[in-house]
Amino acid sequence: MRQLALLHGVNLDMLGRRPREHYGTLTLAELESRVRHYAYERGFHLHTFQTNHEGVMVEHLHQLAGSDIDGLIFNPGAWTHYSWAIRDALELVTVPVAEVHLSALEEREEWRRISVIADLAAIRVSGKGLEGYLEAVDKLAREIAAGRAPLRRYPTDE
Ligand code: DQA
Repeated sequence: MRQLALLHGVNLDMLGRRPREHYGTLTLAELESRVRHYAYERGFHLHTFQTNHEGVMVEHLHQLAGSDIDGLIFNPGAWTHYSWAIRDALELVTVPVAEVHLSALEEREEWRRISVIADLAAIRVSGKGLEGYLEAVDKLAREIAAGRAPLRRYPTDE
C-alpha cells in the first residue's frame, strides 16, 4: 500500500477548542480519522503526527526524508509564517507536499498571508476546513500517479 504522512504543527492539537469560525468544531483526532478513512479508500495508508515543538517537527521531517512515503500533507500552523528551520527541513523531503490550512489565510491578518514553505508545496489549499485535507489527498494521488519529478532532490543526487 502507498503511504501518506499527515503532519500538524503547533497548536493544532487544540482543534475543537480553537475559534470555530476559523477552525471548525472537529478535534484533531476526528479530523485525522476522517482523512485516514478517505485516504485508505484511495489506496493510501496514512501516518499522522502532531507536535508543539519546532525541533521535534524538524527531526520528524528528517526521518520522513529518509523514509518511503509517497506524499506529505502538512499544516504547520503558525510555523507556516516564520519558521525557516521547518522550511529548511522540509526542503529535504523529496516527495510531493500539500500545504493545507483549515482557515482562509488570505482573509485574515496580514501576517498570515506569508508562507515560508509555499514554494516547496506542489499543492496549496486553505479555507476549506476538513474538505481541504480530502482535496489534498486527491491531488497528491494525482501527482503520485503522474510520477511527477519531485520539486527538490537531495544535494547528493545532483
Ligand atoms: C492554520 C493557520 C495559521 O495561521 C494558524 O497559526 C494555525 C492554523 C490553519 O490551519 O488555518 O494555527 O494553519
